[in-house]
Amino acid sequence: MADIQRIVMANIVKDGYTGSIDDYRKEGGYTAIRKVLLEMKPDEVIEEVKTSGVRGRGGAGFPMGIKWGFVPKDSPKPRYFLNNADEGEPGTFKDRALMTHDPHMVLEGQIIGSFAIGCNVSYIYIRGEFYHEAKILERAIKEAEDAGFLGDNILGSGFNHRIYVHRGAGSYVCGEETGLIESLEGKRGWPRNKPPFPAIEGAFGCPTIVNNVETIANVPFIINNGGAAFAAIGVEKGTGTKIYGISGHVNKPGLYEFQMGITLKELIYEHAGGVRDDKKLKAVIPGGVSMPVLRADEIDVQMDFDSLVKVGSHLGSGGVIVMDETVCMVDALLNLSVFYAHESCGQCTPCREGMPWMKMIVDRIEHGNASEEDIDLLYDVACNIEGRTICAMGEAGAWPVKAFVTKFREEFVEHVKLGRCPYNK
Ligand SMILES: Cc1cc2nc3c(=O)[nH]c(=O)nc-3n(C[C@H](O)[C@H](O)[C@H](O)COP(=O)(O)O)c2cc1C
Repeated sequence: MADIQRIVMANIVKDGYTGSIDDYRKEGGYTAIRKVLLEMKPDEVIEEVKTSGVRGRGGAGFPMGIKWGFVPKDSPKPRYFLNNADEGEPGTFKDRALMTHDPHMVLEGQIIGSFAIGCNVSYIYIRGEFYHEAKILERAIKEAEDAGFLGDNILGSGFNHRIYVHRGAGSYVCGEETGLIESLEGKRGWPRNKPPFPAIEGAFGCPTIVNNVETIANVPFIINNGGAAFAAIGVEKGTGTKIYGISGHVNKPGLYEFQMGITLKELIYEHAGGVRDDKKLKAVIPGGVSMPVLRADEIDVQMDFDSLVKVGSHLGSGGVIVMDETVCMVDALLNLSVFYAHESCGQCTPCREGMPWMKMIVDRIEHGNASEEDIDLLYDVACNIEGRTICAMGEAGAWPVKAFVTKFREEFVEHVKLGRCPYNK
């Protein structure tokens, strides 16, 4: 069994830790900000984050330091730092836990990131349903202001910074960084064509960095311990730790933070207590529902960016969904297809039209009203969405369909042949 290495959940797991500013400071919190503001230049902060190799935990896995480095140094415009707390990917529940139980770690990372790119006003864009988390963050911001970590001339450094919590209205696409920016600006959350990328032209036409809550929460550790110490954890192109949120048919669902590279098999069987009721494992989605599903015989894979790509999937958000032998894969796909059809923002025709079509075809197969040609038609519709939309919502809806149909085709065929769902006896 791998050693347990924790960074972002290191405080949360301690007995009696409340997430208050006093508790956070007792654990060494807000020392990184002191070091950054009083001893470092913005470029040095960016270099340290580059050295850490930390890649985005929101889904796309882009290196954080490189992204920060894209912000033009000579732009006369204000810069914005946006903390993506939309957490809309089904099967993902890690950011919520960080914001609830250790909000100051998230704030400290955000202030440091803002200093690095020269930003005086930053936002936490939080999904509308996270009402309580928004309140917790607002309280934490007030505590940080009172303690002098936010406001004017922070710690006498001359750096001014304010953080605002902006509540979304619960749209999946508003988690996409440019949809988020549009929504923050008060418009309909329709993603933008890129380029220009947000680092050049983002919120209010100004250079903007968007990072995920978990990515940001790693920053205090990187500053306190050095980028090299972070890079020494995990695997070569997947440095540090990752929160794996395990749900579904396991004995001990929940959040588990481990160094990158732990295997999916170990996560499920050693840590999450194995499949419940001693049932057989059928399938696992390794990174939130958008990421291609794996068959039971594919789980001896390391949970890092590159290893999962080698088996045809992605780390995504690290939301692991475990399905046992009682699950009908057509019904499971129908559940996902309903979600994507509902969440398409409607801007791009392939997604707006394709997602409901896929839902209808899966529905026909599940309820015994389809022919074998419908299975190929379903796959074909997915192929015609992928790569043809402004944002990656197209891939998010198409990849699950392609993977379910490819890896569990025999179940789809069985539905057609029987004229009903074999699991609804
Ligand atoms: C449809 C869609 C929904 C997304 N939802 C989220 C989300 O809820 N939270 C998040 O951090 N990133 C989400 N992303 C990814 C963001 O666009 C972006 O890559 C991320 O916030 C960047 O932060 P990171 O580099 O720290 O991961 C979504 C992307 C797409 C295409």
